[in-house]
Amino acid sequence: MNKIGTLVLATLLVLSAPTLAEKPSASAVGSNLPENVRGLLKQEMVAVLGASKNILEALVQGQDDIVASNAKAIHDSFILKQAMTDADRQALMSVVSDAFVEKDRGFHGLAGSLSQAAKDGDREQQFMLFQQMTEACMECHAAHATDRFPQMQK
Ligand code: HEC
Repeated sequence: MNKIGTLVLATLLVLSAPTLAEKPSASAVGSNLPENVRGLLKQEMVAVLGASKNILEALVQGQDDIVASNAKAIHDSFILKQAMTDADRQALMSVVSDAFVEKDRGFHGLAGSLSQAAKDGDREQQFMLFQQMTEACMECHAAHATDRFPQMQK
């Protein structure tokens, strides 16, 4: 296994970074959303998971172009920018906290940076950003998706 592959595995095993210990800043989001808006969020999450798997696979094989396109897909799927009706957007915004919006923005920002690092062919940077992105999934789920993932409760 190459160096990056070893790093990725090691990281997946020890992703319990100290930052994950902080208290959740808000309650769960999903069960407070109207069904159709929750459906959109789930759709995005399933797409994000698929893209993340593709990125891991491509990253350990040096396929920068695949990392770049999948990271861009995550970046572009930003739920708060998606084609939602004004009513959907209002419903979403009335449920989510500033902390959630901030996490979502940070997450999609990381995906954008990852796409750029892949275009630049910088593997160490890609690995670092992928790690930070994974951490962002876990932090948001632990704070805002505990109704969907009770085991993420801190
Ligand atoms: C800004 C917050 C946030 C970030 C970042 C985030 N998620 Fe989520 N995710 C959620 C919420 C909220 C739910 C629960 C939705 C619900 O209750 O229906 C969820 C649910 C999911 C689900 C379950 C979908 C389903 O079918 O029920 C998957 C899979 C998922 N996320 C994957 C990911 C992955 C992979 C990442 C990172 C690469 C990620 N998420 C990053 C907020 C986030």
